[in-house]
Amino acid sequence: MAANRRPIISGNWKMNLNHFEALKLVQELSYEVTRDDVDAVDISVHPPFTDLRTVQTTLDSDKIPFFLGAQHCHSEASGAFTGEVAPSMLAKLGVRFVIAGHSERREIFGESDELVNAKVRAILANDMTPILCVGETLEERQAGDAETKVEAQLKAGLARVKAEQVADMVIAYEPIWAIGTGQTASADDAQAMCAYVRSVVADKSGTDAADMVRVQYGGSVKPINAAELMSQPDIDGALVGGASLEAASFARIIQFRLHDL
Ligand code: PGA
Repeated sequence: MAANRRPIISGNWKMNLNHFEALKLVQELSYEVTRDDVDAVDISVHPPFTDLRTVQTTLDSDKIPFFLGAQHCHSEASGAFTGEVAPSMLAKLGVRFVIAGHSERREIFGESDELVNAKVRAILANDMTPILCVGETLEERQAGDAETKVEAQLKAGLARVKAEQVADMVIAYEPIWAIGTGQTASADDAQAMCAYVRSVVADKSGTDAADMVRVQYGGSVKPINAAELMSQPDIDGALVGGASLEAASFARIIQFRLHDL
């Protein structure tokens, strides 16, 4: 983590927790997280759509300083897209960060690089911040193609996005083989790929944007590995799945700076 970039820890709840359970988790988390934590780290929670209103009301009424996040959205503003949610609907609910191109959306729901790019631009057009996810499969890594894959996803995902918008974005490097497997990338490998992400951003959007963009690592981030990952110069945050579903473990990750390396 570089001194000039504010760390951001995001909890991606995926398809877990109904709105009662969501309320409980956010309240428990607010008891675990201290004022110092909030001063030092941006925290976002990304519940399922059906929980957003409940979580928003709780954050608001209890003055809990976490950012509300969403897990995805459609790229169009409105229309005949049964089952989808428009970015403006999320913005109206106070959503600040929206994940775009999570590998589960790409792999299970067939989202293409072009669609992910359309979503990134729609999220920005609605004054929210995209968390653009990129990452390689195990086969691609073993074949030495990890950088090629990540570069292609980044160049496509950031197409027609202005440099100053890229500067404010979050990019999550998530090796697919590390997601939900308990198998984290080593801190050195994660650092190398996050530095590579930054170099691709520099190429595409210039060095100012590359210096400012926040790069998260995701894939089996736990309390035990968060401090080492976060100590890397090009890792500015974490996108956390499983370990964000429990207040104590997510809080320990948010408190990475208090852990011994
Ligand atoms: P995980 O998920 O922390 O459970 O590996 C990370 C993610 O998919 O964002």
